[in-house]
Amino acid sequence: MRRAIFPGSFDPPTNGHLDIIERSLPLFDEIIIAILNNPDKHPLFTVEERCDMIREILPLVKNGKCEIRVDSFSGLTVDFAKKSNATAIVRGIRAVSDYEYELRMALMNRRLDPEVETGFLMADEEYSYVSSTLMKQVFMLGGRVAGLIPELVEKRMREKLSTPE
Ligand code: PNS
Repeated sequence: MRRAIFPGSFDPPTNGHLDIIERSLPLFDEIIIAILNNPDKHPLFTVEERCDMIREILPLVKNGKCEIRVDSFSGLTVDFAKKSNATAIVRGIRAVSDYEYELRMALMNRRLDPEVETGFLMADEEYSYVSSTLMKQVFMLGGRVAGLIPELVEKRMREKLSTPE
């Protein structure tokens, strides 16, 4: 059983995330999309909202026979991987600029748990500039994000931003 986790903030999930998920599916028997519960970062969406959104958009990915689960975690990624009996961490690389941060994280994670291997997948160049942060910023300022995030995510952002806190 080859089980991997794909950890991230997913605030919100983008088409770039879906692209990485789709690319990872043929490589593993089970993928756990692991959403970091980090209230200190003041996310736009609660961890429950992010879990629900990802579950709702998962039918957009082409899947053969990989099991996909969605879960949230707090604390260290390697601890979550261990607890889940996963032997790999999947991360997406969009451009060279991602590499330095990702390398540091992968090496730290390897030091923390040498039994968990990090694998990098290259996102489609179409999404090389797509990040959750940029999507939120452009959307909030009235820019067009269609084609870069799933329609459902755009709808949830519209609902969220028109609802007074
Ligand atoms: O989508 P993001 O924000 O780039 O994901 C970053 C994430 C969640 C993978 C990273 O911040 C993380 O692993 N956080 C959990 C805490 C941890 O394990 N830190 C040590 C990793 S070097």
